[in-house]
Amino acid sequence: MDALPGFPVSRPRRLRSTPALRRLVRDVSVRPSDLVLPMFVREGIGAPSPIASMPGVFQHTVDSLRKAAHEAVDAGVGGLMLFGVPATRDAQGSGADDPDGILNVGLRALRDEVGDATVIMADLCLDEFTDHGHCGVLAADGSVDNDATLVRYASMALAQADAGAHLLGTSGMMDGQVAAVRAALDGAGRLDTGILGYAPKYASAFYGPFREAVDSTLTGDRKSYQQDFARSSAEALAEAAADVAEGADIVMVKPALPYLDILREVADAMPVPVAAYQVSGEYAMVEAAAANGWIDRDRVIVETLTSLRRAGASMILTYWAVDAIALLRD
Ligand code: PBG
Repeated sequence: MDALPGFPVSRPRRLRSTPALRRLVRDVSVRPSDLVLPMFVREGIGAPSPIASMPGVFQHTVDSLRKAAHEAVDAGVGGLMLFGVPATRDAQGSGADDPDGILNVGLRALRDEVGDATVIMADLCLDEFTDHGHCGVLAADGSVDNDATLVRYASMALAQADAGAHLLGTSGMMDGQVAAVRAALDGAGRLDTGILGYAPKYASAFYGPFREAVDSTLTGDRKSYQQDFARSSAEALAEAAADVAEGADIVMVKPALPYLDILREVADAMPVPVAAYQVSGEYAMVEAAAANGWIDRDRVIVETLTSLRRAGASMILTYWAVDAIALLRD
């Protein structure tokens, strides 16, 4: 039957007409276990310290880390990603592979507190531990020395595995880092410790608030090792494929929201689960706009997380992980 002249044949609005119909036809979901909470533990503080540019996020003491981790696991998060903020730094980032370094102390506390009830992840990078703030060690000319850094990452990997991390997040963007970490782990019999490869990872201004979160000392930028956002997806696919070939168990697109195109392509092409990292600047933008009354925070959180899942993310690292779980119950 033809529709009356001037009336549309197709009526997509029909399936939007009641909440029950909308719920029935929804096919993208965000489960609590898809969400991973990044956490910060800081050496030498007596009480949790708020991060001004990330309202609601704290640098934890070891004790408050335990408590917050416990709450997150009770809420049902899929994992925890830990960053360490040391009291002192040096050129080699010695605190990173010191068993008594704050990140390794924090990992041990997390594993002791929650055991295998969630997935404990460790940021495997030197930037929090170096006095110059770069993700690697420097050559004599001041450039970041790729291969000397790999030696440091291998050592960090063993310290983090010893401390109880289930998954190591190779976030430094050195070439060959996944292979170096996998070889070190395998050589030490750590066959079950996994690798979350941070690739593709872009040199992004969206990491701004994170610099405050880890008291970063970096002057300059990371453009000689993190990716250029003005290059199209072929490079991103090559970076992710290299990580997989070297032994990454999961790869991650970072930042998330401005890179949905990259996320979709990587998720379609990779044989491993793909994560997305909703980074500090994405969090801060929404919190700041919401604090001004300009957007509805809770609805924006659910919309961004759902969009990341729709674009192909198997899991999402988000500072809203615990809050979002409460919002997802409908
Ligand atoms: C590197 C690392 C960074 C972030 C996660 N891991 C900083 C950087 O690459 O400059 C940023 C995370 C965020 O902005 O939320 N250790």
